[in-house]
Amino acid sequence: MTDFHRSKHSTGKRGVDISGKIAFLEKNVLDEITLNHIISQWEFPEQEVIRLSKRQFLMPGFIDTHTHASQYPNAGTGMDLPLLDWLNKYTFPLEQSYSSLSFAEKVYPIVVNNLLRSGTTTAVYFATIHLESSKYLARLVKEKGQRGFIGKVNMDCNSPENYIESLDNSVKSTEEFVKYVLNLEKDEGRENGSRLVYPIITPRFAITCTSQLMNSLGLLAKKYNMPIQSHLSENIGEINFISELFPHLPDYTTVYDHHGLLNEKTIMAHGIHLSSKELKLIKERNIGISHCPTSNFAICSGVCNVRQLLDEGIKVGLGTDLSGGYSKSILNAIRNANIASRVVFMASSKVDDKPLNKSFPHLTLPELTYLATMGGAELINLDKIIGNFLIGKEFDALLIDPDACQSPLDIFDDLEDIERIFEKFIFLGDERNLKSVYVKGKKVSGTDLESMNLREK
Ligand code: GUN
Ligand code: FE
Repeated sequence: MTDFHRSKHSTGKRGVDISGKIAFLEKNVLDEITLNHIISQWEFPEQEVIRLSKRQFLMPGFIDTHTHASQYPNAGTGMDLPLLDWLNKYTFPLEQSYSSLSFAEKVYPIVVNNLLRSGTTTAVYFATIHLESSKYLARLVKEKGQRGFIGKVNMDCNSPENYIESLDNSVKSTEEFVKYVLNLEKDEGRENGSRLVYPIITPRFAITCTSQLMNSLGLLAKKYNMPIQSHLSENIGEINFISELFPHLPDYTTVYDHHGLLNEKTIMAHGIHLSSKELKLIKERNIGISHCPTSNFAICSGVCNVRQLLDEGIKVGLGTDLSGGYSKSILNAIRNANIASRVVFMASSKVDDKPLNKSFPHLTLPELTYLATMGGAELINLDKIIGNFLIGKEFDALLIDPDACQSPLDIFDDLEDIERIFEKFIFLGDERNLKSVYVKGKKVSGTDLESMNLREK
């Protein structure tokens, strides 16, 4: 499978070529499952041919547009405090541990393996303020074949004494980090397609960054034409603190704009409590919002109105926000995005509203799936490269087996409707159903590899 050839045939058969790109597509004539990449052994004698059995199907890989690799050990714990107290009590002390590279070497391989295992083919990571541990994460993501955006975190104020940088050091080590990550794939030619690992400028949030630091990071992003990520409007206490810190600026979004941090390559996590003026600015700057519903529920930050963001024409992707969110899985983020959209609808319903005679205005299954795949690809500006299965795109995909051993889907034998099977996978499935996980045409995880004892813990 890793060596699919580009077809020079005119038979209409389609597959994945050696650079990992989708060379062609065809409908599975046997059972109407589309996007099947069955190719004939006869025509491609040197290639391994993967034949999908009855209810198996392929879908684009999941894109996690906001996760903190460093917070993985805390996942599933410490959800009793709101954001700022949660950061001080649980998160900063854990992140401080990455001053030791050996701590990073213990945790990060588990993070990357487990994210791949749960179908995350691309992740946008926060590391910590530490240069060496952050470089290690970037190396690791590349080695394991995941697509990743890696951010060395910046924070030079309002942070604990043992977890803070000087302005000068923060800027210098970030530039060093950026050059290091860019060099990781320097020698790989264009014929190999897009790069796997990218640096991303990561001011933690405007509370822990001075104006000078934010300005410098904005300039650095410009100099290297790099994406930017941060947190925006997650929690009421946070927003109040921002207005104390920046009394001369009208709102949180403007704080980032004022420091040159908002453009079409910016990803802001959360974006829950935004005014209509802020929404307008977000749309104007064409920044993307990473919707992190599991985290928003878990640490009681609020409920983001994604329908409103989409109606405004704002780009939205999904994020797990580990460990504000307790789950590493984008399937879990999809399910909580579904519930969040129903909460928004129910909270706005009034007693004398006319009963709906059509479906609810919550996010639909196609919309939820879009957010987890193409929506994410738009946020990271890779929508021409990944996110769906158009010909010429790189093959980041999940081979789903609804009938896998111990599958949680409990499908009865006569269910053949692919849309219902897909819906069951989205709401009930888990990594037991992920037979193969592909990035750029290469199998990098999945139960298949595990059964061959090739997958690490
Ligand atoms: N805001 C600033 N830092 C963080 C973080 O680590 N997690 C979340 N959820 N919000 C933040
Ligand atoms: Fe976060």
